[in-house]
Formats: sequence, C-alpha cells, structure tokens
Amino acid sequence: MHSLTVELGERSYPIFIGSNILPDINLSEYIVGRQVLIVSNETIAPLYMDQLDAQLESFCVDHIILPDGEQYKNLEQINSIFDQLLTCRHNRTTTLIALGGGVVGDMTGFAAACYQRGVNFIQIPTTILAQVDSSVGGKTGVNHPLGKNMIGAFYQPNLVIADIAYFQSLPARQVAAGIAEIIKYGFIYDADFFAWLEQNISALMAKDPQALSYAVFRSCQIKAEVVAKDEKEMGIRAWLNFGHTFGHAIETHQGYGTWLHGEAVAIGMMMAVDLSCRLGWIDELLLQRAKNLLLAAQLPIFAPEDMTIDDFLNLMSVDKKVLDGNIRLVLLKSLGEATVTADFDRGALEETLSMGKQLAQL
Ligand code: NAD
Ligand code: GLY
Repeated sequence: MHSLTVELGERSYPIFIGSNILPDINLSEYIVGRQVLIVSNETIAPLYMDQLDAQLESFCVDHIILPDGEQYKNLEQINSIFDQLLTCRHNRTTTLIALGGGVVGDMTGFAAACYQRGVNFIQIPTTILAQVDSSVGGKTGVNHPLGKNMIGAFYQPNLVIADIAYFQSLPARQVAAGIAEIIKYGFIYDADFFAWLEQNISALMAKDPQALSYAVFRSCQIKAEVVAKDEKEMGIRAWLNFGHTFGHAIETHQGYGTWLHGEAVAIGMMMAVDLSCRLGWIDELLLQRAKNLLLAAQLPIFAPEDMTIDDFLNLMSVDKKVLDGNIRLVLLKSLGEATVTADFDRGALEETLSMGKQLAQL
C-alpha cells in the first residue's frame, strides 16, 4: 500500500493507494462519532457494500442508495441524502462515506458540506476517474440544467481510499474515460509522465495492476501537489480544468450522461491542444502525439456533429473561469506546462470549434 498526503494544514488528509487495501486501514481513526451514513448507488452497492459494512461493525451504519447516472447529480438527490440523515437522526459527529464514482463522491461531499453546516466525510472512489481526480481536492457539488457542476462547495474529505481492485468490475468505456483524466496530468504538468503513458497505454487499457497503480499514484501525487498550492483555484489549480471548458459545454449540450465526463474532456483536451497549436505555442508533432494517445485510449476526439460554434460559445460563457464576461481557457505553453488565458485570437478559437475536418487530415 502507498500513501500520499494532501497538505492543507489542519485539514490535511491521507490518500491510501493499493489493491484490496480496505481491511488494512483502521477506519475508526477517521470516523469521529459512532454514526456513519454510506452513500452509494444502485450499481455499486450490490458489488461492494457488504465488504465495506464488514469493516464498520463497531459503528451504527445507515445507507442510502442513489439512482445511477450523471443525470441524477442534482439537488433532488442531495435532498434525499438529507432526508435519510434526518430520518435516522444523524448528529453533527456523523461521518458520510462515499462509495462510488465521481457522481456519488461529488454529491456526498456536497451533502457533508451542508448537513448541519459541515460534517466529516470519507471518499472511497470506485472508478479510475474518481481515484485520480474527483475524490481528491474537495470540489463537491451538483449539476444545474443550465450548467455542469454549477452548484457546490469546496469541502475536503478527511480520508481517501483508492483501491484499484474496484476496477475489476469497471466497464471498458469507464476505464477509457478515467484514463482521459490521467492523460490530462501528462499534458499540463509532467512531460515524462505523458511519455510513460504513450509507452504504457495498452497495459492501462488491459487493467494491468502495476501500470494502473503507478498511474493512479502519479496522478494523485500531481493533484495533491496542485491542491496544496492552490486549494480554492485562484491560480494553478485551474490547470486541472484543461479541456473542461469545451468538455462541460459538450456534456451540457448533449444532456448529462449522454457523453461520459472523461469522453467530453478528451474532446476538450484535443480542442485545447489544437488551439494552442493554432496560436503557435506548441508544434504539430504534439498535436499528432495527443491525437495518437487519445485514440489509443479509445477516446473520442471530435465534437458532436450537432454542436455549432454558437452552441459552444453560449455554453462556454457560463464556465466558472469566465472573468468580466471573457472566456478564459486552459491552453498549453509546452508539453507539461499550461496557462490560463483570455488572450487568444477569437478567429483561432472558432476554427478550433469547427476542427473535425482539419484534425481528420492529420
Ligand atoms: P460515475 O460516478 O457516473 O461512474 C461511472 C459509472 O461506473 C456509473 O454507472 C457507476 O455506477 C459505475 N461504477 C462505478 N464504479 C464501478 C465499479 N467499480 N464497477 C462497476 N461499475 C462502476 O462517473 P465518474 O467517471 O466516476 O465521475 C464523473 C463525475 O465526476 C462527473 O460528474 C464529473 O463532473 C465529476 N468530477 C468531479 C471532479 C472533482 O474535482 N470533484 C473531477 C473530475 C470529475
Ligand atoms: N478536477 C479539477 C479540480 O479538482 O480542480
């Protein structure tokens, strides 16, 4: 088992990474009172709830099983978590445990942030995406019909358990979507990691445990470092949104759940690389490498055919990085270094937004 710490002073917390590690972790160190509410969904609970319950025999444990899907990441489901907490009379020393992917994790964290003005919570992420990104760093919340992740709070967990054994039951499409966020770290932060991913993409897709352990560890390490520097996204943390301004527009336009988050982000990253190349900041070789790696991960790279430039611009104008009415994008200065900027040629952006044809010629 490996461990990392997200260094946030008094709110620092560990991330444990390994395979079948749950029995080796003393959960009672991270649970303040006697009450626990496990939040999961109808897909994950039948697979993994019993295992978790077995580690919590000395606690008073309640459960809530949410419907599965990005389309249920909304305030109605948050309310159902509150209903369960109140019906079961949970007090301020309760601990919420998220057992699931990013949807369950984001909602559990938000419910924990709000219930009685903030209670303990633990993340047990079960998808690749959730282990390498959403469970670490304290971004919690839900979608609004007009914008992705628009309602939420920064609220840190007090423990993250990243057990790669959960990936055994993960469908291939979800594996690819998680790998998209791993590739993101290579683009924005670590050129050597990007090269490692190029070498090891087949092993990752085949769920090779060694390759997955390293990829989860390195991704969490980068995320922890970035969050420790900039918890509330005043600067470098925005790099983690590489590809997301385009991607969130796709998710919102297509209807939540139609495209997986990681798939939409893959297209968004391709667009961000394309625009960086049009602006002359990176060369065409990197554009080609980006395309090859994303395709090798069986990720989409072209925007949905029914999305117009205006669709993109309208949806991108409600992005959380918009400042004084200007769209700000995370673009690449070089492989391993990003920048957040509103200073780009509007014509180049519009060419990128209609880029399918040009890319197809590569
Ligand atoms: P998800 O939570 O919808 O999980 C994907 C699917 O896999 C679901 O059907 C789920 O039930 C199923 N599943 C989960 N674990 C499984 C397992 N071990 N075996 C079999 N099936 C399993 O999606 P996700 O990709 O984990 O997360 C996407 C969400 O995370 C989006 O809402 C996105 O906005 C959010 N996100 C948040 C952050 C953050 O910093 N908070 C970062 C990135 C993404
Ligand atoms: N997933 C982006 C962030 O945590 O900041």
